Amino acid sequence: MVLLAAAAPFWPPVLWSLVLILPLSAVGFYDLFQERHSICRNFPLFGRGRWLMEALRPYVREYFVESDTDGTPVNRMFRSIVYQRAKGARDTVPFGARVDTYRTGYEWIGHSLAAVDAAEVELDLRVSVGGPQCGRPYQASIFNISAMSFGALSPNAVLPLNKGARLGGFAHNTGEGGISPYHLEHGGEGGTGAAPLEYANSIGMPLREALALVVDCLIGFGLRHQVRVIASGKILTGFHLVKHMALGADLCNGARGMMFALGCVHSLVCNTNRCPSGVATQDPRLYRRLDVEDVAQRVVDVFLSFDTELKKIIAPLGRSTSLPIGMADALGIDDYNAAQRLKIKYVV
Ligand SMILES: Cc1cc2nc3c(=O)[nH]c(=O)nc-3n(C[C@H](O)[C@H](O)[C@H](O)COP(=O)(O)O)c2cc1C
Repeated sequence: MVLLAAAAPFWPPVLWSLVLILPLSAVGFYDLFQERHSICRNFPLFGRGRWLMEALRPYVREYFVESDTDGTPVNRMFRSIVYQRAKGARDTVPFGARVDTYRTGYEWIGHSLAAVDAAEVELDLRVSVGGPQCGRPYQASIFNISAMSFGALSPNAVLPLNKGARLGGFAHNTGEGGISPYHLEHGGEGGTGAAPLEYANSIGMPLREALALVVDCLIGFGLRHQVRVIASGKILTGFHLVKHMALGADLCNGARGMMFALGCVHSLVCNTNRCPSGVATQDPRLYRRLDVEDVAQRVVDVFLSFDTELKKIIAPLGRSTSLPIGMADALGIDDYNAAQRLKIKYVV
C-alpha cells in the first residue's frame, strides 16, 4: 500500500491494481480473524490455495496424470471404447494389448483350434424370460439398460435411453431401487448417483464371485432352469458380456456404460446436481442442451456393438450357434484362488 501511494503521483494508472489488491486484502483480513479454519488463520489468503488445488485435483489427475488403465471407477480405456462405439468412430487399438497380460488376476478367453468364421456365426441373441407359470413370457435381449432412477438422471438422459431401447429392441429398467420378493440379489461394486463411501466400496460381494455363487445355489437347489440371472457391473465391452455370461448370467445390463453413451464425461459429481454433461442432474440449465434424438442413436449404436463384439468373440471359440451362458470352460484367470472359486481355468 505504501509503495502504491508513493508511485501513484508519478504514474496514476498504477491505482488500477487496487481492483485486485483491495478484494484480496479483504479476503486476507477475513481469513486472519475467522475461527473455523486454522490453515487460513496461519496463512491468510494463501491457505485458500489448498482448496483451489483440491478442486482442480480430479481434473489434473484425470486429464494429465492418469494412465489409460488406472482410473476408477471406470478407466479411460473403457470410457473411450464406449465413446468411440457410441459415435461410430474407429474402435480398434494399435500396437497390441493395453493391459499387462502377466499380472495376477489377468482374465482371458481361450480360443478354440476349431474357430469358425465370424460371418458364419448364427446366434439367436434373445433369451426367453418367464416359465410355464408366467402370464407374459417374452424374449429378452441379452444386453439391456440397467436401473437408473429418474431422480438420478436428467429427463434429457432418460428420454434417449428409452427411445434408444425402443429403436434397438432392448429393455430399459427405470430403476427407483425396487426389488420384488422373486429377485435374488447379491453383489457389490455397483454404480449409483450417490452412495455412502462404505456402501460403494465395501458392501456386497464383488459381481464376479456373486454371480458364481448365485448360479451355484440355483443349480444346488435344482432351480437353475426356472430362474433367469441378470448381471450388471461394468459390462462395457464384448469381453465383459461374454465373461459374465460364461460365469452364468443369462442376460447382462449396463448403467454407467450407457451414461457414457449419453455423453457422461466421468466428472464424478453425480451427487452434486452439477453434472457438466447434463446426464446426472435435475438442473435444466445443464441438461437442456443434451439432444435427445442424437443421443438416442448413440445408445442404439452402443447396444448394437455388444451384438457385433459378442459374435466376434464367439467365432474364435468355435461355437457358432449357442450363447456363451455357463461356458466357464472358455475362461481363464491368472489367480489360483479365484480360478478355484469361479471354477475356471488357471494356467501358470
Ligand atoms: C446413476 C445411477 C443410478 C442408479 N439407480 C439405480 C436404481 O434406481 N435402482 C437400482 O436397482 N440400481 C440403480 N443403479 C445401479 C445400476 O442399475 C447397476 O446395477 C450398477 O450401476 C452396476 O452396473 P454398471 O457398472 O453398468 O453401472 C444406478 C446406477 C447409476 C450409475
